[in-house]
Amino acid sequence: MTPRRPGPACHPGNRGPRSTNDPRAAVVRLGTLAIVAVALGAAVAAAGPLAASVVGPPGKSAADRCTACHRELDEARLQAPALAVGNDTHHAQGVTCAGCHGGDPTSDEPEVAMDPKKGFLGKLEPTQVPAMCGSCHSDASFMLRYAPNIPTDQLAQYRTSKHGQALAKGDVKVAVCSSCHGAHGVLPPSDARSPVYPSRIVETCGACHGDATLMARYGIKGDELAEYKKSVHYAALTQKNDLSAPTCNDCHGSHGATPPGISSVSNVCGTCHLTQRERFDESPHKEAFAAIEQPACEACHSNHAVLSPSDAWIGVGQGQVCGSCHAAGDAGAAAAESVAAALARMHERLVAAEARVKKAERAGMLMEEAQVKLEEAHQGVVLAQVEIHSVDPARVETQAKEVLAAAGVADGLAAAAEGEIRFRRTGLFVSLAVIALAMVALILKIRRMERA
Ligand code: HEC
Ligand code: HEC
Ligand code: HEC
Ligand code: HEC
Ligand code: HEC
Ligand code: HEC
Ligand code: HEC
Ligand code: HEC
Ligand code: HEC
Repeated sequence: MTPRRPGPACHPGNRGPRSTNDPRAAVVRLGTLAIVAVALGAAVAAAGPLAASVVGPPGKSAADRCTACHRELDEARLQAPALAVGNDTHHAQGVTCAGCHGGDPTSDEPEVAMDPKKGFLGKLEPTQVPAMCGSCHSDASFMLRYAPNIPTDQLAQYRTSKHGQALAKGDVKVAVCSSCHGAHGVLPPSDARSPVYPSRIVETCGACHGDATLMARYGIKGDELAEYKKSVHYAALTQKNDLSAPTCNDCHGSHGATPPGISSVSNVCGTCHLTQRERFDESPHKEAFAAIEQPACEACHSNHAVLSPSDAWIGVGQGQVCGSCHAAGDAGAAAAESVAAALARMHERLVAAEARVKKAERAGMLMEEAQVKLEEAHQGVVLAQVEIHSVDPARVETQAKEVLAAAGVADGLAAAAEGEIRFRRTGLFVSLAVIALAMVALILKIRRMERA
């Protein structure tokens, strides 16, 4: 039942015999106490460290004098951690104050409870935090008992991140585990109140990355937060509550936070935008961009302020995306021109067909079949916009032909409907005329009969 102990270097508290110095030992002791409570007649038959949570507060509170005393302290900084336990995953699982801070949770004497000889670490410094959190979270056999589905690679990943590398050099301005998760009242990422919940992580990273003065020291612009907030992705996340839209850690990683390299940007965007990536990878741009060290999608879409694109982007004129690298007269400009022309043709035809179908509908005709064709044409336009990423006019042209064909069919159906309307109108006129003539004839006949 005793968890395997990670290497001594992992844990800031590992300075002496484990029974007193390993804060985790306190947790394990809690588990043991709880088991004793069970054995002594509590109703729940559970075993292992989980018993602490299954048995619940009696076993735990008996040993957690830290919370009891701190709850009564006046200074907010000392009291707040004890008040946060109600919303704390750790506390709920039997990981109490001593699990992170060390010390003796069974004592009511401050000198004993918070004795460094008993592994008490005091207020943890940022440089101590990752190894402390990792002493449990990197220990697969320990975590397995609580939550087998939670990965145990956070510390290993963190060490590869820009944050972890800078911390290793003694820079305490970077993010450590508690900068993103908090230290007290830690919640699972799926909880909407957690600072790492998808829509909240933006502000969590932004607390540092939105601070341009701090970031200037590292040669980082510091506009990432403001730029990201202009994006379609942020709008989808916050306005449509679309959790599939990317936020900071989807592109950068959570624990291994680094900017994606030149060659991996298309992979990052491409994990969600598969077809655009496929077309880009088939295009001459893939190799050409790599040669000029230009990240794939970013060249035309930016990385943070990703906006909703439009046909008007295509060309080498002012504000058009191809113009930043191509100039009138080169092969790229020529391709842009034919792609733009093909798109314009599609739209023109589609708009005209739509107007005609709508008019027929207003005249009372049933245009279901034409609507299906129009929908087909719209889908075709979307596919043509995807083909733009191949920068191959022939592929856009092939797609355009299908759009024109579908729009053509819709247009034909509208034309037939117009014919039908004309026919009905003529028919109505003729029958009205016949009725009128019959009426006149009838009146004449009646008059003649009256005279007679
Ligand atoms: C009987 C009351 C009492 C008990 C029990 C107690 N504390 Fe404290 N704790 C205090 C007081 C008072 C302070 C502030 C004065 C000081 O730093 O000694 C404090 C300070 C702290 C600090 C901040 C230290 C700093 O350097 O800012 C931490 C962390 C802490 N306690 C954790 C714990 C843990 C963990 C336990 C249980 C193992 C515990 N305390 C048990 C009363 C208590
Ligand atoms: C999951 C690990 C963890 C647990 C559990 C935990 N702490 Fe902390 N505590 C930290 C870390 C990390 C810090 C360092 C400051 C920070 O990063 O917020 C800290 C800081 C503190 C401080 C100093 C706050 C300040 O602003 O100076 C006190 C006091 C404290 N903890 C008390 C407690 C008490 C009391 C409990 C139990 C109710 C507790 N902690 C449980 C990780 C933990
Ligand atoms: C004494 C061991 C221990 C220490 C130290 C510890 N944790 Fe935990 N942590 C756990 C256990 C056990 C769970 C509960 C897993 C569960 O059942 O959800 C947990 C859960 C979590 C969760 C929620 C995971 C989820 O998806 O439910 C987060 C986030 C977390 N810890 C972060 C931290 C951070 C940050 C620190 C350091 C400030 C830390 N932990 C220190 C043992 C520990
Ligand atoms: C830069 C912010 C950041 C830092 C630093 C950070 N985390 Fe996280 N962590 C996140 C985010 C965001 C998530 C949720 C998404 C995910 O699981 O990748 C998360 C998820 C978790 C989870 C839950 C995993 C799951 O699948 O349920 C645990 C446990 C955890 N982190 C522990 C740690 C530990 C331990 C450290 C320090 C070694 C740490 N984190 C450092 C942002 C961070
Ligand atoms: C506590 C402050 C803090 C928080 C919170 C924070 N960071 Fe950082 N981050 C920094 C600092 C400082 C650096 C600069 C480190 C260096 O370059 O040495 C940095 C560097 C980075 C880098 C590398 C940039 C480069 O060009 O090298 C990325 C990427 C990054 N952070 C992403 C994130 C993400 C994503 C989050 C949230 C999930 C986040 N950070 C949360 C402080 C923070
Ligand atoms: C859609 C993906 C995506 C999202 C979302 C995203 N980033 Fe980035 N980020 C990138 C890419 C791509 C780069 C640039 C990589 C390159 O050019 O080498 C980058 C670069 C960075 C850099 C380095 C900038 C520099 O000047 O060196 C930081 C810091 C950063 N992002 C932070 C953030 C933060 C904070 C958020 C959330 C507010 C965020 N990013 C959201 C994709 C994203
Ligand atoms: C985690 C998945 C994910 C990642 C990663 C991602 N996106 Fe998106 N993207 C989305 C979702 C979801 C939407 C839809 C937003 C909406 O509802 O309008 C979207 C929308 C877009 C749009 C607008 C589409 C339109 O029709 O208006 C563009 C352009 C775009 N993303 C480009 C990018 C680029 C460039 C990157 C990389 C820097 C990227 N995306 C990374 C999920 C992702
Ligand atoms: C050479 C410039 C360029 C590059 C590079 C580029 N795009 Fe695009 N992208 C465009 C243009 C132009 C549009 C607008 C199409 C339209 O609306 O007519 C677009 C549209 C989009 C859309 C909106 C849906 C659609 O197809 O209309 C998404 C999503 C998208 N691109 C993702 C990506 C991804 C992911 C990458 C990287 C693999 C990428 N783009 C690379 C120019 C580019
Ligand atoms: C970031 C710079 C950049 C942007 C933006 C860009 N291109 Fe390119 N493109 C290149 C480079 C570099 C090459 C390879 C060298 C060359 O042939 O000019 C290339 C090659 C091409 C080729 C192949 C030319 C040949 O000789 O076979 C076509 C076609 C093309 N681009 C079309 C476009 C279109 C259309 C757009 C806008 C939607 C665009 N490009 C945007 C940099 C760019």
